[in-house]
Amino acid sequence: MERVRFINFPKILDERGNLSVVENGAALPFEIAGCAWLYDLRDGEKWQNKHLGGKDELIIALSGGFEITVNDGTDSKSFYLNRPYRALYVPKGLQWQMGNFTTNSVVFVLSAETSVNGGETAADGSFGNKLVPLNEAPCLQGHITVVENGKGSPFDVKRVYYLYDVPAGESRGAHAHKALKQLVIAVSGSFNITLDDGKEKHLYTLNRPGEALEVGPGMWRTLDGFSSGAICLVLASEVYTAEDYIRDYDEFLEYKKQKQI
Ligand code: TYD
Repeated sequence: MERVRFINFPKILDERGNLSVVENGAALPFEIAGCAWLYDLRDGEKWQNKHLGGKDELIIALSGGFEITVNDGTDSKSFYLNRPYRALYVPKGLQWQMGNFTTNSVVFVLSAETSVNGGETAADGSFGNKLVPLNEAPCLQGHITVVENGKGSPFDVKRVYYLYDVPAGESRGAHAHKALKQLVIAVSGSFNITLDDGKEKHLYTLNRPGEALEVGPGMWRTLDGFSSGAICLVLASEVYTAEDYIRDYDEFLEYKKQKQI
């Protein structure tokens, strides 16, 4: 039980909204194998980890708040989660139960192992710049969407970051990446993403936690139109490197010209 602990992740404060990031290495005590998020949680319902399997897990309140009680067979201890930069690490073998969800709670769970069943479809290799349905399941208690490395996800997730508390009228993310692949998800509220390949622009409105926008390399992307309470979750194919960014639009157009893409 003493191995259960809170881990604080970076909270990058900005007047255009806040950003937190969890990635392999750094403070994470395992490598990411799977991600799941729970939402539309019904009042009075509880979640137990028998739904997700007994493995090393990191649990985050992306939105709202809830209580989690961890049990090691002899002892039990309760914790309260309500901020997205403060996660609870629960080692393999312990039972947990979540409850007392506030309205609009979104629970995010990172796992060290994939589940035994489900999500076995292979990625079809056609990644890029389109809205795709994810592996979403309705449950008695609410909804769960699962993305697991090697089980239908278009890449292995090595980093997860999320934008939250974005003030009205702000925009984010005017940049492109050279190699990074990302799945962008509105786990709460809604926002727009404009993808620009240097020639054409497409605007996508994201507003459901069970679908993602695939954003490939070489795309200038801008996020705006954030609703109140919007949470933008991004699953990324690589850990953070500043070198992978192109932050200047003219430089981006030059890069596209040179690469002929
Ligand atoms: P950035 O990607 O530049 O967001 P935006 O394009 O919306 O401004 O990220 C903002 C800051 O956060 C920037 O200083 C880099 C830092 N950051 C990390 O340290 N790790 C990450 O995984 C991400 C996404 C950003």
